[in-house]
Amino acid sequence: MSSEDRLERILDQYYRLTGKEKRRVDKDLFETVEEVFDYATVKAILELVRKKQIYELKGVVSAGKEARVYWGKDFKGEDIAVKIYLTTTAEFRKGLIKYLAGDPRFEMRRIPKSTKKLMEMWANKEFRNYKLMHRAGVSVPTPRAQHKNILVLDFIGEEGVRAPLLVEAKLEEEEYEKIFWDVLKDVRKMYERARLVHGDLSEFNIMVWQGRHYIIDVSQAVKLGHPNAEDFLVRDLRNLRRFFYEEVGVQVPELKDMYLYVTGEISEEELRRRTASSNE
Ligand SMILES: Nc1ncnc2c1ncn2[C@@H]1O[C@H](COP(=O)(O)OP(=O)(O)O)[C@@H](O)[C@H]1O
Ligand SMILES: [Mg+2]
Repeated sequence: MSSEDRLERILDQYYRLTGKEKRRVDKDLFETVEEVFDYATVKAILELVRKKQIYELKGVVSAGKEARVYWGKDFKGEDIAVKIYLTTTAEFRKGLIKYLAGDPRFEMRRIPKSTKKLMEMWANKEFRNYKLMHRAGVSVPTPRAQHKNILVLDFIGEEGVRAPLLVEAKLEEEEYEKIFWDVLKDVRKMYERARLVHGDLSEFNIMVWQGRHYIIDVSQAVKLGHPNAEDFLVRDLRNLRRFFYEEVGVQVPELKDMYLYVTGEISEEELRRRTASSNE
């Protein structure tokens, strides 16, 4: 079958599943998607349409090296974020393997040779991390579904415009301070209840929407048993401290005390007491 015929077949199925009129071909998903993705990815999107997770993809929110994020709609008309991992370069592959190897959940499985399989494993890892964090009460976009290299999440923002990242947001001093403590509490919940360390936490992976923060981009998060978990945690805390202290001027605790708090050695009350006394 030619690729045009294949696309035609996919489109026929898409219109059948959504009940859309075939004339409305201009605005909807496979037009947007076909240029960027391989046939397997287009089929995977169709499978999520079949599962009623995706009704349409409306626009690109972010085109990263490893993944693209789309704004879309589900069958109820609710906004969704659809993160699609690209099948990419050897360079990227090397980067990923570092995080998979040593994670007790993936140790027993072979690291796939094909980039496609690796991307599926990666999307699955992100989905599981999101679910663990969500269940632990961490503020993340609610994970909805994952199939192959595609992840569906609640959309943070409105009318297809994503919420600002922490690095982009313009907030009052008190709002920054509140968010600092809220994020730190979440890092503790991640550690205590989900037994995870984010591993890439910074002002670039936190969104701010209606006075609340959302932690995103959790594919690289590792279980506490991972040999680098402690290093990643310290790096995450150092990043938070740097941004909130140096960039926006919030009074923050010492790194050591942040660590003791996150790992459950001291209470929030004690941490706040130490922070206040060191800033006197
Ligand atoms: N649930 C979401 N709702 C709205 N926008 C999102 C959502 N998840 C991610 N984004 C946007 O897409 C960008 C890339 O997503 P991210 O998960 O950080 O992937 P990457 O690995 O490419 O950094 C984010 O910086 C954010 O702007
Ligand atoms: Mg990111």
